Amino acid sequence: MTELSLNPQKIDQLKQTLGTEFRIKLLVACDQKNGIGIDNGLPWHLPNDLKFFKQKTTQQVIVMGRNTYESIGKPLPNRCNIVVSSNLEFQKKIKETYVENACTVVSNLADAFVLASKKTTNQSVYVIGGGSIYHQTIDLATDLYVTQVETTVKADCFFPSIDMGMWDIKSTEPYTKDERHAYNFAFVHYTRRQ
Ligand SMILES: NC(=O)c1ccc[n+]([C@@H]2O[C@H](COP(=O)([O-])OP(=O)(O)OC[C@H]3O[C@@H](n4cnc5c(N)ncnc54)[C@H](OP(=O)(O)O)[C@@H]3O)[C@@H](O)[C@H]2O)c1
Repeated sequence: MTELSLNPQKIDQLKQTLGTEFRIKLLVACDQKNGIGIDNGLPWHLPNDLKFFKQKTTQQVIVMGRNTYESIGKPLPNRCNIVVSSNLEFQKKIKETYVENACTVVSNLADAFVLASKKTTNQSVYVIGGGSIYHQTIDLATDLYVTQVETTVKADCFFPSIDMGMWDIKSTEPYTKDERHAYNFAFVHYTRRQ
């Protein structure tokens, strides 16, 4: 994995390749200790968060790790799905099953973003997880869309800590728990400080 990961030098090269207009948006729901997943699934069911996710990502290019893809089980419809995996069997299976525009597997993150920059119609890509992908891409991200869930759940997968010296909060939209949502939560949009 190490040689496939994005180190600071690769991040600089990639930024140059993608250009300053290209936006890399991380989209995540996390608890108060940055927990995001357990047993390769989500630790909560928050219908309005799923709605927000769908609204943000429909007709967009999305990038995810193989575990996240497998937890969803199929490409998300009406989106250009790019999955990152070094697993040759998995690459072959997806290639045989789906047309390139619905789902493509690439073997490293740099290729994922270069492909995303070719597929996008609006110079942006959503990174939808999971933990390993968020850790590798936060330094490249321009935007974080974080659903901050007001609880601490049992988790085995985490979002990296957000260094508030690097980010501005652009908007916050709070929701109060109700019969369909067990926790209060807030949609917070961070943009990278210039
Ligand atoms: N709360 C949320 O918003 C949210 C969103 C998404 C996911 N999640 C949760 O996050 C968890 C999954 O996260 P995870 O960290 O276990 O897995 P992940 O990031 O989804 O996928 C990890 C896999 O992606 C591939 N990969 C990662 N970096 C790579 C690189 N640089 N080059 C090539 N391949 C690379 C590898 O696949 P190969 O082994 O095939 O090489 C690796 O095993 C689940 O619990 C899921 O429910 C939560």
